[in-house]
Amino acid sequence: MVHLDGDITVSDGHLVFDGVDVVALARRVATPFFVFSPRRIRWNVSAMVNAFTRRHLDTEIFFASKACSNLWFLDQVRRAGINLEVNSGGELWKAQRAGFAPAQIIFNGVAKTRDEIRAAVEAGVRALVVDSVYELERIAEVAAAVGRPAAVDLRVDVNVATLTHPGLVTAHGGKPGIDLDDALEAFAFAGAHEALAPRGLHLHIGSQITGVEPYLAAVEKGLDLIEAVAAAGVPLDHLNAGGGFAIPYRDQPVCEPVDYFCSALTIDDYAEAICGVLERRRPGLKLLLEPGRSISGNTALLVTTIENTKVKGLRDAAGRRVGDERWLTVDAGFNTLLEHTNYRWYYRTVVASRAAEAADTPFRLAGPLCDGGDVFAGDDDTPYRSFPAATAPGDVVVFFDAGAYSLEMMNPYNARPRAAAYAAHEGEIQMIRAADTLDDLIACDVEPGASTAATRAGGKAPAGS
Ligand SMILES: Cc1ncc(COP(=O)(O)O)c(C=O)c1O
Repeated sequence: MVHLDGDITVSDGHLVFDGVDVVALARRVATPFFVFSPRRIRWNVSAMVNAFTRRHLDTEIFFASKACSNLWFLDQVRRAGINLEVNSGGELWKAQRAGFAPAQIIFNGVAKTRDEIRAAVEAGVRALVVDSVYELERIAEVAAAVGRPAAVDLRVDVNVATLTHPGLVTAHGGKPGIDLDDALEAFAFAGAHEALAPRGLHLHIGSQITGVEPYLAAVEKGLDLIEAVAAAGVPLDHLNAGGGFAIPYRDQPVCEPVDYFCSALTIDDYAEAICGVLERRRPGLKLLLEPGRSISGNTALLVTTIENTKVKGLRDAAGRRVGDERWLTVDAGFNTLLEHTNYRWYYRTVVASRAAEAADTPFRLAGPLCDGGDVFAGDDDTPYRSFPAATAPGDVVVFFDAGAYSLEMMNPYNARPRAAAYAAHEGEIQMIRAADTLDDLIACDVEPGASTAATRAGGKAPAGS
């Protein structure tokens, strides 16, 4: 059963995305590929801006570019009218290439190098988000050397439990941020240092958070801290509540509390919670947000082709065959959608070339890599995907909600070229990323016999070469 989202329809048994027949496209260009919807990017940005500014006018949104830093995507986000969060020198460079002004950029990161700090200070980014007391001192040192005070937000772990995948927890014992016990002293240090200009408190508490309670608790604690910091003589002008808003990867009417792939919350629910606390306690305080997944997640499909099929015995503990399993292998695995093995992420799938047929037959669905782990999680916590009975090699399988943390994490494992990406709009297609060529697969390798000094432009030649 295909879930239709308005701009996704079925025509002649094929899945159509914003007017583009993805099966016809898959017959014309190499699979796997991603197909993005610029219309959805605009919808998501305006839903986010409206939900928050309606409730708290002084809100600014910074798209978390780690979710999708493709230049075309960044350009769409910029044109839609929001700013950018970056997490490395590379993302800062891409942000500037995509036309974001330094004042539109927030620089995050849990292990910033001196070079990255210098680049951010010299560019004059809106704020560097500080991950530790050690890093605060490092930023002060670099800013003093550059001769320009660094605007800083301190990221504090406000110790709230989050309802999300264990790999995505960033507060409450997670890696990022300054311990709450040390926060006041860190702000006092920043306030007293002439090379530092403390501006705000940063609280990103995790990703795909499927409840509003963690935000309620985090914002309350954050406002307590902002009051204490002001009382200590360091007034702050904003609270950065981070991102983390969940999207529904699983299509279910009711979500189990621990099922972080299922979310019944809308952006309005998150806005109501966060702005509710802010309006009650500090209506004049600026709110910053850094959403990634909730802007880019549902803007892309991953389109793949089935290349192999087999039936294998299902065996009990004693090795007796107790049934059969039908397997299908598509041409994208964790090289293209890393999260499926990294976090056992669940992406809804449909057989786009049989979109009008009943999806009533269980199949195991696997990727093309040689690893036994390159097998996709099944529906409803079973090992199986429900597909039409006749599904076979040559059919086109689409993965939904593949726009966040996907292009970013592709890798050429098994020497498989990283996939292309297209934008679809009202039946028209535009390439926004080319697939790797075979030459790309060896572009960074030094050919046997070549001089080590002849490394690629921008690379560092090894000492003594
Ligand atoms: C500091 C920071 N801000 C924003 C985000 C974006 O989170 P999400 O994509 O869940 O909105 C992340 C990712 O976890 C992050 O680490």
